Amino acid sequence: MEEKEISQAVIGRLPRYLRYLGELKDEGVERISSQDLSALMKVTASQIRQDFNNFGGFGQQGYGYNVGYLYDAIGKILGLDRQYKFIIIGAGNLGRALGNYINFEKRGFIFRGMFDQNPDLVGNSVRGVRVMPMEELERFISENDIDIAVLTIPKTSAVSVAERLAGTDIRAIWNFAHVDLNLPERIQVENVHLSDSLMKLSYNISRYQQEKE
Ligand code: NAI
Repeated sequence: MEEKEISQAVIGRLPRYLRYLGELKDEGVERISSQDLSALMKVTASQIRQDFNNFGGFGQQGYGYNVGYLYDAIGKILGLDRQYKFIIIGAGNLGRALGNYINFEKRGFIFRGMFDQNPDLVGNSVRGVRVMPMEELERFISENDIDIAVLTIPKTSAVSVAERLAGTDIRAIWNFAHVDLNLPERIQVENVHLSDSLMKLSYNISRYQQEKE
């Protein structure tokens, strides 16, 4: 596959393609034209072609896209052709909710450990995974080859915990704390702010209202 810089906007659209293609695959659909995929996903056919052209096209003239092939190829681009082991730091409401979500496993993200500084929570389990004290963090990461740390702790703690993580071989942080983390380049950080999505929703509510008025 061609090695070129793909825009984050395109990368951001790939999981949605993957979701739809996965559903088509489950329904036994073997091929789909860009027009049909466009109608299904409510994305223009030219957008789909442009997006897929970033990866060499995937299409075959007069045939459409091979659903299984496209699903595997996009999965591979997204790095989903392998497994990632993750831990959750912060066994509160959000950490437990994420730990309880089994679909991450289906995508190859394996929940291996949970940590919290609160001694009352240590020893509890979430889906069979025990909450451990923070003292065990570095040892656990190294002994279990953990790839990803999910941060579901308050922003006041997130910076110092991230500094500790920088001293380990962790490869990425999925950061739910509302603070930007300054980490070595080798550690990938994905910040998640559910409120951003909510604000987009409120924008669309008001835009729809304005259009109707
Ligand atoms: P929570 O209070 O239920 O849980 C936080 C947990 O973190 C507690 O169990 C606490 O003992 C633990 N903790 C605090 N400092 C720690 C440290 N230094 N090391 C290890 N554990 C530590 O809070 P909740 O509702 O689970 O939210 C967690 C954080 O995520 C909050 O800061 C909240 O603002 C944020 N959040 C972010 C969202 C997003 O979309 N990015 C959505 C919801 C919450």
